[in-house]
Amino acid sequence: MKILITGANGMVAKATAKYCESIGDEVVAATRQELDIADKDAVLDRLRRENFDAVINCAAFTDVDGSETNVEKCYAANSVGVENLALGAKEIDCAYVTISTDYVFDGANSGFYTQRDAPNPQSVYGQAKLDGEIRARNAYARSMIVRSGWIYGYGGTNFLSVMHNLLAEGKSIKAIFDSFGTPTFANDLAKRLRELAELDLPCIFHVTNAGEGASYAGFAEKVCELKGFDKNLLEYASADSLKRPAPRPKSSKLACLFSERLGLKPLPHWENALAEFLEGKRERG
Ligand SMILES: NC(=O)c1ccc[n+]([C@@H]2O[C@H](COP(=O)([O-])OP(=O)(O)OC[C@H]3O[C@@H](n4cnc5c(N)ncnc54)[C@H](OP(=O)(O)O)[C@@H]3O)[C@@H](O)[C@H]2O)c1
Repeated sequence: MKILITGANGMVAKATAKYCESIGDEVVAATRQELDIADKDAVLDRLRRENFDAVINCAAFTDVDGSETNVEKCYAANSVGVENLALGAKEIDCAYVTISTDYVFDGANSGFYTQRDAPNPQSVYGQAKLDGEIRARNAYARSMIVRSGWIYGYGGTNFLSVMHNLLAEGKSIKAIFDSFGTPTFANDLAKRLRELAELDLPCIFHVTNAGEGASYAGFAEKVCELKGFDKNLLEYASADSLKRPAPRPKSSKLACLFSERLGLKPLPHWENALAEFLEGKRERG
């Protein structure tokens, strides 16, 4: 397949580009500097010039707290940009996969959120991502929305991606014990994104590693176990005690109603995926 991957400097984009290249795809990976998805003319021009089989949109404004004050920037990438790519994909009639988030849910449900649950985002980031989902589907009925959450991977700068480095340096970290999610290794997500681009079914998918999910503290404890780090470095804290600007769902574990019915294998259990990430083997290819 010839695939356009946007937001190419990002964690998921890098994993996706690497995976697609490894299976022989022709990958055009565009950074924000090369293709600003909020720029409609640039997006349409780029898509008209090249004949892609699929667009996988990994670009997003991912600063959840910063989105509370940078509302325009957040909506430009996470809502308008998602629509622009849908319009471009429609013009050239190609598959379109765009990533959304578990933060479209309010977190009141302590079980798993499926596609049957109504979104009710609490943060500007979550609202903009939901708006992006709706705009994409309205602009191009062939759009595939992939909701994921608690993503970590190589090159990632978020807490889940870097906590093992902090612990390795003997630094204490805050381990939140009352926020729950379904951890997702970017390399596993990347593979599924490619499978979905090929499947090309207009749908909302929930994609995470398998298992019952975890709290941040549970994830950190597993990192300690797997790497032999001192668990005394974990400072247990409640989510509220961090006083972060953006509200987060207390629980945003995702489950998918469609994947298995469509013959897609569940992603590896999150504990095995985490072990693989920490071993670093897949970083080298
Ligand atoms: N990380 C998570 O835990 C998580 C959870 C749920 C969903 N997601 C979703 O997963 C997707 C990938 O996230 P990620 O973790 O890989 O994010 P990331 O590492 O922050 O990468 C996002 C990339 O998008 C680029 N970008 C921002 N605005 C852009 C624009 N207007 N046009 C083109 N590129 C733009 C950024 O470039 P600059 O750095 O140059 O600005 C960055 O390289 C996003 O849709 C995100 O919302 C992530």
